[in-house]
Amino acid sequence: MSRIHLSAPDVRGREEQYVLEAIRSNWVAPLGPDLDQFEREIAARCGVSFAVGLSSGTAALHLALVTAGIGPGDVVLVPTLTFVPTANVVRYVGAEPVFIDVDETSWNLSAPLLAEELEAAAKRGAKVAAVMAVDLYGQCADYDAIVPLAAEHGTLLIEDAAEALGATRSGKPAGAFGDVAALSFNGNKIITTSGGGMLLTNSEEVADHARKLATQAREPAPHYEHTEVGYNYRLSNILAAFGRAQLETLDDRIQRRTATREAYRLVIDRHEGVSLMPIADASTSNAWLTCIMLDSKRTGTSPENLRLHLESHDVESRPIWKPMHRQPLYSTARARLDGTADRIFERGLCLPSGSGMTEAQLELVLGLIDDHLLRAGTS
Ligand SMILES: Cc1ncc(COP(=O)(O)O)c(C=O)c1O
Repeated sequence: MSRIHLSAPDVRGREEQYVLEAIRSNWVAPLGPDLDQFEREIAARCGVSFAVGLSSGTAALHLALVTAGIGPGDVVLVPTLTFVPTANVVRYVGAEPVFIDVDETSWNLSAPLLAEELEAAAKRGAKVAAVMAVDLYGQCADYDAIVPLAAEHGTLLIEDAAEALGATRSGKPAGAFGDVAALSFNGNKIITTSGGGMLLTNSEEVADHARKLATQAREPAPHYEHTEVGYNYRLSNILAAFGRAQLETLDDRIQRRTATREAYRLVIDRHEGVSLMPIADASTSNAWLTCIMLDSKRTGTSPENLRLHLESHDVESRPIWKPMHRQPLYSTARARLDGTADRIFERGLCLPSGSGMTEAQLELVLGLIDDHLLRAGTS
């Protein structure tokens, strides 16, 4: 059996047909009808008015900050438990990231700590330019609390929904909560364009500005006229054609990943000291990755031992994102912490969750985990 990856790309629909059609109609230039259509389809799925196809989720996060005019001297609040681009884009624009811990119920930005930080800033007379919330591992943050907090403090809310396409919170889709949101179609995401992303917003002005910035910020003139710095950030029409086919199977993918998570649950439930990542009551997760928490004292093993055991059978698993406040890159950044992200990082592990995993592959992984936990528990 070949290596089992954490979340391999899964091509199961009309990708070949749509890409071929795009090639045959000569829509090979960056822009084209598949991109327009893909943007409309994603906007509809995420319940927003505008979507701008971009070369990556990182580009979408970057443009979210640039279109808001955020720059040097500005503070952006970022959950410490995330993948590094969420924080890096703040540095791209010369602003200061301040890291906030996460909550136990969703592993996302802690609303109480966010409230403390916003109030402390208000008392100092300092304005927070933006709150960046992340929808980690396919689950939305606590927007029932975060959206009113951002509104109360007049702070822009940016939603990093890179991992969460198809998830919902209180009935509303991921990507619809931020003033601006970002999706990723990187190869390991629930749908992929091999590489790509999208900026979502209800503001026509922001969408138009993002489109302009993403195409070298060319002014409307017959010659090449520029008044601001632009980027080459657009998603190509061919990749959008691929993405459209992937999007058609999104619900099937969510179902498959959810079934995988439930299969893991059956094994995990047999053992003391192991649990799945919690899903908040108001949430439906897209089950992008199944993550577990493992208490070394109660299980007699560690996430790293389990990872090595799986690796020795050519099965990929990965530690939880290492918190930003623990990264050498951000060691001097300010942070408001209560130890939750550290605990999740120490105890957590992400398990193979790809929608293309076969039943035999899943059975193998389940058996390896069960076996490892049994041996550890009895040794
Ligand atoms: C939480 C998070 N934010 C941002 C990104 C960046 O997306 P991309 O890889 O498309 O640039 C990713 C995924 O890679 C992610 O997981």
